[in-house]
Amino acid sequence: MLLRLKQLQALLEHESDLWANLANFAAFIFQEMPTLNWAGFYRLQGDELVLGPFQGKVACTRLKRGKGVCWAACEKGQTLLVSDVHAFPGHIACDSASQSEIVVPIFVQGSLWGVLDIDAPIKNRFGQADQDFLEQAVRILIQHTRF
Ligand code: SME
Repeated sequence: MLLRLKQLQALLEHESDLWANLANFAAFIFQEMPTLNWAGFYRLQGDELVLGPFQGKVACTRLKRGKGVCWAACEKGQTLLVSDVHAFPGHIACDSASQSEIVVPIFVQGSLWGVLDIDAPIKNRFGQADQDFLEQAVRILIQHTRF
């Protein structure tokens, strides 16, 4: 985990552009974490989460407030792990292959900016170690990026 975080830091630390860092971050996660089918960002805009840089199949562009895993993580203000998306009421299936999901809300200077959303094509893919890794990865992203 430490090695991958150091690699991520090396990837981001000489660039502060938002889109460049979001794009490389999504690519890095998709490349480095096994068994994923989608990894990317949704950015808060008013009452919607709007699609940002990602890796994986084409996805829903706008998620309306109050429905799905991404919004549930925003309302909770904490990382949300869903071991079986089909058992989650209101889950939005952008890619029918998705079976489990982890969403990390991103707060910049105390305000909700959006989320990091990661999907896997198997149930129970994500655990505490993944949560710790992704939360630290998001901290590195925030530290090196001009939001
Ligand atoms: N599953 C998410 C929607 C985004 S896609 O997974 C890329 C949700 O329920 O909010």
